[in-house]
Amino acid sequence: MSFNDIIYNYKESKKLRKMKFTSDQLGIMNRYVREKENWNKHIQESKDFILQSANSKEKGKVVILGSGWLLDVPLQELSEMFLEVLLIDIVHPKRVVKKISKYSNVTLLKADITGGMIDYIYENPNKKEKLLVPIHPFSFNLPENTDFVISLNIMCQLHIILVDYLKNISIFSDKELKEFDKNIQIAHLKILPEKKTCLITDIEEEILTKDDQTIGVNPLIHVDLPVGNFSKVWQWKFDSKMTYRDDYKTFFNTQAIDF
Ligand SMILES: C[S@@+](CC[C@H](N)C(=O)[O-])C[C@H]1O[C@@H](n2cnc3c(N)ncnc32)[C@H](O)[C@@H]1O
Repeated sequence: MSFNDIIYNYKESKKLRKMKFTSDQLGIMNRYVREKENWNKHIQESKDFILQSANSKEKGKVVILGSGWLLDVPLQELSEMFLEVLLIDIVHPKRVVKKISKYSNVTLLKADITGGMIDYIYENPNKKEKLLVPIHPFSFNLPENTDFVISLNIMCQLHIILVDYLKNISIFSDKELKEFDKNIQIAHLKILPEKKTCLITDIEEEILTKDDQTIGVNPLIHVDLPVGNFSKVWQWKFDSKMTYRDDYKTFFNTQAIDF
């Protein structure tokens, strides 16, 4: 490793730590450990849907967006079905780097799936007018010759860390932030090619009392999703221990679409 690599990695990891990408990812694993039983159903639903969607696709290159800890990735099966498996995330946990080393056709790529918004926001602090306007030019390019792309529990997440960071550096109205979320989702949907996509995303957040009475539902997707060839909806009991929100449980309604 050269001196430049060290500087680059240091800067890169400082940025991801400051913007809380690293701690957010760690938070996913910590919550999984606490909620294993509830999460396993969601994880199995995701894996089953991915494999069902994979059946009808060309078996060259499969690209997974938001691979993270690989909790919801049927890695063994995909590596047997496809010639190449590419896992994309802004942070790859060390455990995953180690895990994939036994697969000769699985590769990791560190990339920003919004196509550059992370750097843009980090490099333009305190310039509110600059931060909200230029969302449309950002678009992520899928790797060449992608036969199958899986957007994996990430579409409704892409804006969350960015919005939390934005809230720390300036004051935005709810309307501005909602517009921001919507634009990120529009841009994400645009990069997903027809006849080659499996999209899995939370579509609603349900807030419940400790006795499981629903007291509110927040929509998480602000664009129309494709009807697709087939789809499925299930509930993900994300937080039953009331640690995400004090005194309330949080469940997600998740939708998977093959299109
Ligand atoms: C909710 S997790 C998806 C679950 C994941 N498959 C797992 O098993 O951990 C979202 C993942 O998206 C990644 N992520 C969030 N924003 C991103 C971005 N702009 N570009 C790339 N990855 C991003 C996070 O690092 C995290 O690993």
